[in-house]
Amino acid sequence: MTAEYKVHGDVAVITMNNPPVNGLGLANRQGIASGLEKANADPAVKAIVVTGAGKAFSGGADIKEFGSPKAIAEPNLLSLILACENSAKPVVAAIHSVAMGGGLELALGCHYRIAAPGANVALPEVKLGLIPGAGGTQRLPRVLGVETALNMIVSGEPVKSELLAQLPGQKLFDKMASSPESLLEEAIAFARSVAGTRPLPRVRDLPCKHPQGDAYFQFARNMVKGMAKNFPAPAKCVDAVEIATKKKFDDGMAAEREIFTNLMFTPESRALRHIFMAERAASKIGDVPEDTPKRKIERVGVIGAGTMGGGISMNFLNAGIPVTLLEMKQEALDRGVATIRKNYEAQVKKGKLKQDKYEQRMSLLKTTLSYDDLKDTDLVIEAVFEEMGVKQKVFETLDGVMKQGAILASNTSTLDVNKIASFTKRPQDVVGLHFFSPANVMKLLEVVRGEKTAKDVLATVMDAAKKIRKTAVVSGVCDGFIGNRMIEQYSRQAGFLLDEGATPQQVDRAIEKFGFAMGPFRMGDLAGNDIGWAIRKRRATERADMKYSRTADKLCELGRFGQKTGAGWYDYREGKRDAIPSKLVEDMIAAHRKEAGIEPRKISDEEIVQRLVFALVNEAAHILEEGIAQRASDIDMVYLTGYGFPIHRGGPMLYADQVGLFNVMQAMKRFQQNPRDDAKFWEPAPLIKKLVAEGKGFNG
Ligand code: NAI
Repeated sequence: MTAEYKVHGDVAVITMNNPPVNGLGLANRQGIASGLEKANADPAVKAIVVTGAGKAFSGGADIKEFGSPKAIAEPNLLSLILACENSAKPVVAAIHSVAMGGGLELALGCHYRIAAPGANVALPEVKLGLIPGAGGTQRLPRVLGVETALNMIVSGEPVKSELLAQLPGQKLFDKMASSPESLLEEAIAFARSVAGTRPLPRVRDLPCKHPQGDAYFQFARNMVKGMAKNFPAPAKCVDAVEIATKKKFDDGMAAEREIFTNLMFTPESRALRHIFMAERAASKIGDVPEDTPKRKIERVGVIGAGTMGGGISMNFLNAGIPVTLLEMKQEALDRGVATIRKNYEAQVKKGKLKQDKYEQRMSLLKTTLSYDDLKDTDLVIEAVFEEMGVKQKVFETLDGVMKQGAILASNTSTLDVNKIASFTKRPQDVVGLHFFSPANVMKLLEVVRGEKTAKDVLATVMDAAKKIRKTAVVSGVCDGFIGNRMIEQYSRQAGFLLDEGATPQQVDRAIEKFGFAMGPFRMGDLAGNDIGWAIRKRRATERADMKYSRTADKLCELGRFGQKTGAGWYDYREGKRDAIPSKLVEDMIAAHRKEAGIEPRKISDEEIVQRLVFALVNEAAHILEEGIAQRASDIDMVYLTGYGFPIHRGGPMLYADQVGLFNVMQAMKRFQQNPRDDAKFWEPAPLIKKLVAEGKGFNG
């Protein structure tokens, strides 16, 4: 947790040791500061090396201390950097593996820097909606030149040390070590060689100018504006670097601090920081310890080579895991494989995949019509028709043939995973793996935990999800799991809005302006309106008392299933995806209103957004309360990675917190008064009432 201090002859070495990436937490900062003090007080020491143990020089701020008083307790990062800069004896940063954020800023406060090849160097604060806050915007341009530094600060992307070292005139690295292994030894020798140098070089004393000055910054601002629509931080990075070229160093530092602090309070930065933490939290399951032994997943079986089966297979092939794909008929197999090939070929054409990689992936794919060929796979994922009878046959067969310990997963989107598990004599090995379409693209994977799913099965599939680069979120068993259960309420609201006077295009426009990738009606046309129709029919008996707009059914009765039939809520020109408002649909909705005796009214965009988003929030609160979701931030991850919820708003739960749960509840009470809406649904969930009474939000 802290830094180690050791003297090698006349050179003191301070080694940060705070696994995994030597985050600059309080104990680590204290350790470095006390090392500097010791070294300066020891007459035998002539120079100082600062480095990091293990896998990093330093990855920057310690995420465990995010938002806690420890993060800013003295010595804070700024004072620590000053202590390096003001050290009477030369301080040499010995950089390897990772120097990011505060880690790089610390190195910039040292008098000299020596780097090992292969080190990733970055100022990634912009990814959290911030600018570097400990001198990064003022010092990096002084050592790398304004343009390179600004590119790094605005993108937040890491750059390899050897690339930076090749830049003409760069002053970031005084020397490159010949290898990571010899770094420390070379750093000590280097420190010795500069032990007598006075005055000591300081980055703050270097000039900072751009030859085109204002014109360059104007250009940079225009570039950034196009790239970062909803986020203020990138433009602020430009401001801060421009200040570095115009003001004295200390004034620049003060300006950087002010911009940093202001950004901290923006909803966009809060959203990005929330997502950063939420992503990490989602991979943890409360009652499944992290060291739970995992089963090995070396071969995967996929049943059904339709829309989902093909995409699911691609995920594993991409990760180098062999897949055996099973179908009922050879034609279906051929079709499925052809689609996989087509997808890969499109990637090759776009230059996103190399030909040899494509061939390598295809060579991992085997096809079969026989369950015998699946029996030795470690994980088998079923993606057959959404009918309980079909699933039953598949799982009974699997139970008979699969080796002991194999994990049996279903990609069902609406069926009861406990019931599916009951078709086997090994319900502990059964789990839901709910991929989203297109399964090779969408990040989200809902891991559906059955009543009897074993902990090591959960630990194994969470691990496998990481390998195939999915964001896995655990859901309990319920109709629709987390995501689709919530979207049902959102879709119902979209329908009521049509009944009451809105057009599909108005609803879509309002929610897209809010930031959703696609409004509900354009989305319906893309996914196929017949899917929802089939689900509504199936549920008609189960939920006879559920009120919903009949417009979607009437649309399907007209055969307007969406893009695939050339017409849905919108009209489509052949081969094109542009949604054109439809007169026929408008008339259908008008006739429906007339029939139902509804006098249309003008509905504001604000009301549209509130009803759609708060419908998600109220259902989510029930989901949370029932323990279907483990935590509010998991629900946000589902919506951010699977449903196109705007990133800059941080997900429905964080958005509700930012609006204020009290205000959300007031709006729900208003909606309850609307006779065209569903007053029962708008009864605020008990959890919302409780949190409002306690003055809290979903996220504390
Ligand atoms: P699909 O109709 O495109 O593909 C199903 C495939 O399974 C067909 O190729 C069919 O020949 C094959 N099949 C049917 N019974 C079989 C059996 N007994 N043995 C072997 N193969 C069999 O269906 P899709 O869309 O791929 O859906 C599959 C599953 O994934 C369903 O449970 C669905 O609810 C779920 N799902 C679908 C999503 C979607 O957007 N399409 C999203 C998430 C889940």
